Amino acid sequence: MEGASLDAVKAWVQQTRHIAVLTGAGISAESGVPTFRDAQTGYWAQFRPEDMATEAGFRALPQRVWDWYQYRRDLLTGVAPNAGHQALAVFAQQYPDRLTLITQNVDGLHQRAGSVGVLCLHGDIFENRWLDAPRNCCHIDHAVAGHPPYCDRCGNLLRPGVVWFGEALPFATLEAAQHAAHTCDLMLVVGTAGAVYPAAGLAHQARAAGARVVVVNPAPSELDGTAHGVLHGTAAEVLPQLFGAG
Ligand code: APR
Repeated sequence: MEGASLDAVKAWVQQTRHIAVLTGAGISAESGVPTFRDAQTGYWAQFRPEDMATEAGFRALPQRVWDWYQYRRDLLTGVAPNAGHQALAVFAQQYPDRLTLITQNVDGLHQRAGSVGVLCLHGDIFENRWLDAPRNCCHIDHAVAGHPPYCDRCGNLLRPGVVWFGEALPFATLEAAQHAAHTCDLMLVVGTAGAVYPAAGLAHQARAAGARVVVVNPAPSELDGTAHGVLHGTAAEVLPQLFGAG
């Protein structure tokens, strides 16, 4: 990793033809949404990912897992996008062809800030889908309320529409993200520990394809060694400075 100043990265943002931004839970931290891996405050300090974010965990204790996702949905309805989300949305509104926004987040805050066409690698926490292949009786509008809701005829359960560990990412979304990684000239990696693949692999792909890679994170991440520069600050502090007009 080489050093890079905020001014240098701001100049890169202004000059580059196409920027890919990969975001993680850290961009929503200043909105009041817990991250996963931060010590003390991250969800994975409290829960085991294999219990709460795998199909096997859901099948073992569906009520517990459903209620946790319901808790997170409720939390999200009470928060708002922050200056980091907003800076990306405003830039993309000004220069719609210059930015591809890729997120691991399922919280919808980029979209609520006004970003369109967000590539959501890990799904959407506000969506549901059937756990097992739906039969004719499994109509989503007819699911019986419960924890989780279920099909009153065959017992099929609803589950949150997020990507759990061991599951494939939505193919077209991942393909579009990989295309952006291969064709951008700057990739910003914001608020992610860089521990989960294939998402983190996008930064390696961008670098290998010749893009500059810059990490924005107040703490060390696993992608620092791949980056040309690391800006040690929070998303809500740094992104408005990088994307602002001044
Ligand atoms: N601004 C920017 N970065 C921040 C901020 C902030 N205000 N606060 C914390 N961070 C950083 C942390 O230092 C950490 O590196 O955000 C990162 C959050 O990392 P994780 O909690 O691991 O979140 P993420 O990388 O998005 O996790 C990837 O793991 O459990 C799965 O599916 C889940 O999509 C998630 C995936």
